Amino acid sequence: MDLEKKNTILVTCGPGLAEYLEAELVDLGFEIISSHAGGITIKGNGADVMMLNLRLRTAYNVLYLLKEFRCSDAEQLYKIVNTMPWEGMISPHEYVSVVSRIKTPSVDNSMFANMKVKDAIVDRINDKLGERPDSGSQRDCLVYNLYWRGDRCWLYLNTSGLKLSDRSYRKMPFMAPMRECLAAGVVMATGYDGSVPFVNPMCGSGTLAIEAALIGAGRACGLLRSNFGFMHELGFDKEKWQEIRREAGKLGGKDIERVVATDISVEAIRCAQKNAMTAGVQHLIDFKVCDYTETPMPEKPGIVVFNPEYGIRMGDAKKLEPLYEGMGDFLKQSCAGYMGYIFTGNMQLAKKVGLRAKRRLVFWNGDIECRLLKYELYSGTREDYKPKQ
Ligand SMILES: C[S@@+](CC[C@H](N)C(=O)[O-])C[C@H]1O[C@@H](n2cnc3c(N)ncnc32)[C@H](O)[C@@H]1O
Repeated sequence: MDLEKKNTILVTCGPGLAEYLEAELVDLGFEIISSHAGGITIKGNGADVMMLNLRLRTAYNVLYLLKEFRCSDAEQLYKIVNTMPWEGMISPHEYVSVVSRIKTPSVDNSMFANMKVKDAIVDRINDKLGERPDSGSQRDCLVYNLYWRGDRCWLYLNTSGLKLSDRSYRKMPFMAPMRECLAAGVVMATGYDGSVPFVNPMCGSGTLAIEAALIGAGRACGLLRSNFGFMHELGFDKEKWQEIRREAGKLGGKDIERVVATDISVEAIRCAQKNAMTAGVQHLIDFKVCDYTETPMPEKPGIVVFNPEYGIRMGDAKKLEPLYEGMGDFLKQSCAGYMGYIFTGNMQLAKKVGLRAKRRLVFWNGDIECRLLKYELYSGTREDYKPKQ
């Protein structure tokens, strides 16, 4: 990676998150070159790449363009990739992995394309240095991403390596935890900025509450990670990295209103507390073991977000009906003045809430299409929480 010269960067994300990722990139001062469901293209240098890996909340991977070229078949792919100066980028003692997305008539198997690129890389290093790096499917060292559409190819260094949704704070997952980048997207969709209370009954392992605390306080979410793909490149500038990390570490001192996280399970709260401690935000969150109806609601109205079971992977949908009816009652009776949200993958169950949703935002939890349902619970007083647009 060139630390000075600007280059094309593709930041990838999960379905439903591009809108939030785009907002993050604009906030960080980047001009959007193009945007589609799976990612956003920007221009930036190697220093930007390091900063993005530390700070992006809704991204999967930060990809740095190495080469864009025309290619009509697998042999040509091998030849072109084999001409690249890999011996200057990869030590023979490193580990290399290739992933690809392909839509081209000449090759219908992405594994085959992965193998061609991987062979081209390791053969080149072996020819030049007499040793070849190890290779395989591990994603925690050097990962290269190939996109092949028709006769056009883009080959990227995956500077993140493992997905950025792995923030390294969730040591204890409990049941059906949300991916961290999805939780961050959900929190961002509520417009939460730390200036009002954030309440998360049924918090499970605490992902929503932890991401809210990180967002509210303005903390960089990647600081706990000690491994990123770019660190494995030859010529990795450790000093520059430490400088960027130090800068990111200075963020996050913002005072925020309380975050409240409750769950009926003692075990869930134990996990959530441990995870919050690892994430360094336990002092910002009030945890309580209780039924959601007993959740202590801060007097100042804010945001309340539920992520109940929805009977697809866990729980039986029919048995969950009273829970959804109860959530509707709780929102009506105990959350006046708040903005209420329910995140669910089951729209039949959502009907049992019995309140009219003002908005229904689409998200994907893995391959399950979900909705974040928004309920305005205005009490009609001056204190009502009205989110910024
Ligand atoms: C889908 S999980 C939440 C996952 C969470 N968003 C995460 O990322 O870990 C649903 C949670 O609701 C809790 N729960 C179920 N019934 C409850 C009730 N009546 N009161 C409070 N919590 C309840 C469960 O213990 C479980 O932790």
